[in-house]
Amino acid sequence: MNQKIIEQSLCVKNLHVKIDQLELAKGMSFDLHPGEVTVIIGPNGTGKSTLLKTLFGDINRQQGDICFGETSLNKKWLSKWRKHFGYMPQDIHLDIELSVLEVVLLGQLDALSLRLNESMVSEALYALEQIGLLHLADRPVNALSGGQCQMILFAQAMMRKPSILMLDEPVSALDLHFQQVLLDHLDRKTKENRWISLMVLHDLNLAAQYADKLLVVKDGLIVSHGAPKTVLTPELVKDVYGVDAEVTVDGQGIPFIRTRRSSYKQEPDNVKTKLKKETGVSSVF
Ligand SMILES: Nc1ncnc2c1ncn2[C@@H]1O[C@H](COP(=O)(O)OP(=O)(O)OP(=O)(O)O)[C@@H](O)[C@H]1O
Ligand SMILES: [Mg+2]
Repeated sequence: MNQKIIEQSLCVKNLHVKIDQLELAKGMSFDLHPGEVTVIIGPNGTGKSTLLKTLFGDINRQQGDICFGETSLNKKWLSKWRKHFGYMPQDIHLDIELSVLEVVLLGQLDALSLRLNESMVSEALYALEQIGLLHLADRPVNALSGGQCQMILFAQAMMRKPSILMLDEPVSALDLHFQQVLLDHLDRKTKENRWISLMVLHDLNLAAQYADKLLVVKDGLIVSHGAPKTVLTPELVKDVYGVDAEVTVDGQGIPFIRTRRSSYKQEPDNVKTKLKKETGVSSVF
């Protein structure tokens, strides 16, 4: 693939995806640009992972186009182009008997041959060093913690040097330090290498800090798409999550979302008595 093609945008037009009877995309259209981090937000079960899998070609679409520049990613063509995608799935369980270094090297599976190229090993070790996990290189991955696995899968995705990098909840198991390491690294590499980066996050404050654009998904539709400070309003948070939130914007134009715990109300005794009388069961909740 030449440099010119890498500079193309990824365009999704009128995407329809249905699994069983569930319509998870009902005509989604959006563009993603090189050098930008786009963060998908939206409720649980609304189709965010399905959208990434569809772009990656793991799930078939019913209708719509996915284009990289002028080229339409049809089924036949997708398998060729997949090698330019880096994809880190939501499920981070690694039950294989490989070392951390070997797993990171698998990021370059397309280029690996029977003899290991020394520069690839150096690159994998460097990738681990950059994220502060060089000391884990020889450890078996099936003995790592959940957060360590997540960081190793991130290093693997980076090793692919993808044109399009998709990360599904990449910080869900990470502590505060590694959240920052991963997201800073992603942001820097996206801008340096002009990648198109697309990730799912649930933490709206992290999304607000790291997204160049937010893509808000609900009920199979794109509800909003744009810069965090224009997208993240109390109205949107209420509409999408049903939650009351205060939104303030700091000096750098980054929104900060604050929610409050709901007030706790004890279940009235008469409800419990009625339940016991009607079903014979005492509520354990
Ligand atoms: N292969 C499948 N077969 C049946 N239902 C599926 C399949 N894949 C996804 N679904 C359903 O589609 C819906 C959307 O799933 P998806 O994983 O895309 O949600 P999500 O937005 O990523 O949610 P979360 O935030 O919880 O990760 C869910 O109700 C899920 O059960
Ligand atoms: Mg998901």
